[in-house]
Amino acid sequence: MIRNQWYLVCFEDELKNGKLLKRKIVGEEIVVFKTESGKVVVLQDRCCHRNVHLSLGYIKGEHIKCGYHGWEFGATGKCEHIPSLSPEEKIPRAACIKSYDSQIKHKAVWAYFGDAEKKDEATIPPFKELDHWPMVYNYHVVKGNIKLVAESLFDSHHINHVHRNSIKTLMGNLHSEKPDYHLTVTEKSLQGWYLRDNENSIFEKVYFGFEDKVEAHFGYWFPHSSQLDLRFPAHLTMPARQMVIYEHFYEIDEDNVMMIQITTWNRIFEYNPWFAKWFMLRKSMKIVEEDIAFLESNKYWHSREKLNDLLIKPDELTFEFTKLWNKNIKRNAEKTYQEETAELPN
Ligand code: FES
Ligand SMILES: [Fe+2]
Repeated sequence: MIRNQWYLVCFEDELKNGKLLKRKIVGEEIVVFKTESGKVVVLQDRCCHRNVHLSLGYIKGEHIKCGYHGWEFGATGKCEHIPSLSPEEKIPRAACIKSYDSQIKHKAVWAYFGDAEKKDEATIPPFKELDHWPMVYNYHVVKGNIKLVAESLFDSHHINHVHRNSIKTLMGNLHSEKPDYHLTVTEKSLQGWYLRDNENSIFEKVYFGFEDKVEAHFGYWFPHSSQLDLRFPAHLTMPARQMVIYEHFYEIDEDNVMMIQITTWNRIFEYNPWFAKWFMLRKSMKIVEEDIAFLESNKYWHSREKLNDLLIKPDELTFEFTKLWNKNIKRNAEKTYQEETAELPN
């Protein structure tokens, strides 16, 4: 599993009214909550007294209180109060659980899973549109391969087939004609854009424009985030409009991948924001379900037999992505100097 990363744990608006959220990320079980003063805390989801889930408890002031015998834990994971102890008795030093570094960025809570010396805040992806635009999000557990999940948003050739009943018209076709990908690859990311045929219905063209092609931008940040960004230029009396889909994904455990899909937009149905949210959520749920069927189907076959995918020339984005993926997987697994020296015999 891919550790040493900041992962998106939840969105800030999920932590209202003293709610405790539980998550499992790269095999680690955590509980997330906001204290009464508004501080976000991420702790291991375990009370060290009798080893039960802390997420069965509740918030009291700046602490989370275990629901079993009421031990209270603060943001550092230290037990600060044990109701059954008399005031002169000391809390044992071992009464402590793991706490995670966390921060709020782009309206989401991010927590770090890994070795402290490898922590790099710059690796939180730039989901900057979420700071200002309306958005909807949804979570999906996928029995799929994390690498294929990572690729699914910018695999440009699957859209007119997998999504033939949902967004084919909006996204347009991509025939055998080779798209010009205008690709930029950096150490940990990949960005690019290409043009798709605009095959919208007349009704959609009135709304999204009559240009022959629609600009489709895409991005990927190792290992956990990808982006598809559709730009509809201004036309008639309409201003330019944009729809950006983000996917954030991580391994829950060895078998399951969490896929969080976030859709955000600018100036689409802007006079009817509630309709826009309802429409975008309905659409994005359908699109993800269509993808999941194929992601799980791929894992099914790979788990039954040792198989190689038969990639061809138009799969060029997959080749670029695989190079980036393999390089970073190797680098991420490399030990730091401190880890190596710690292992040296005395
Ligand atoms: S198990 Fe948590 S207080 Fe006893
Ligand atoms: Fe898709």
